[in-house]
Amino acid sequence: MWDKREIIEYMQSVPQDSHERPRRLIRPANYVAGTPGYGVYEGELPGGQWYAVINLQGRVFMASNDDPFRTADVLLETIKAKVVLVDIHAEATSEKMALGWYLDGRVTAVLGTHTHVPTADDRVLPGGTAYQTDVGMSGPYESVIGVQKELVLQRFLTGMPGKFEAAKGDPRMAATLIECDGRTGRAISTQRLLLGE
Ligand SMILES: [Fe+2]
Repeated sequence: MWDKREIIEYMQSVPQDSHERPRRLIRPANYVAGTPGYGVYEGELPGGQWYAVINLQGRVFMASNDDPFRTADVLLETIKAKVVLVDIHAEATSEKMALGWYLDGRVTAVLGTHTHVPTADDRVLPGGTAYQTDVGMSGPYESVIGVQKELVLQRFLTGMPGKFEAAKGDPRMAATLIECDGRTGRAISTQRLLLGE
């Protein structure tokens, strides 16, 4: 997200307690202190249901973030909403699954992102937290995780560097639909979706 520097100004254009659009764009909550933007958003749906969204980033195979587990603990102490969605952006399936168990019974859902490939392990954990290791990519599926397949193949076949371009074919949207109890925040069911054109 830092590739486009103007995003920093956008994120800082509203105060922390705002509910406007720029405040609803979040980045990992466990980035080092002082990073622009916020890692959690708490808001109200038109029907009056309060909810919170937390974004965390893993540490396995990734740049140095603060501890996502302890960061979640700290954030959950301040969040008033019962319905809480945690997006764990991480490389290692083990780290995402460990966070799912760590937060089971304390949040509505722990959903993994980053690997682009939806995993078939969506379920509701015993404590009432919906969990899926990776929701998957929304984008062109005639590709290698979103990139033109010829360019990726060329790199694997030759080892030579080259510019990656986004692919265009076979757009699909990967999503996970979670039903929950708005009063307790506990998940009732979860369902994987992969919608084609
Ligand atoms: Fe990523």
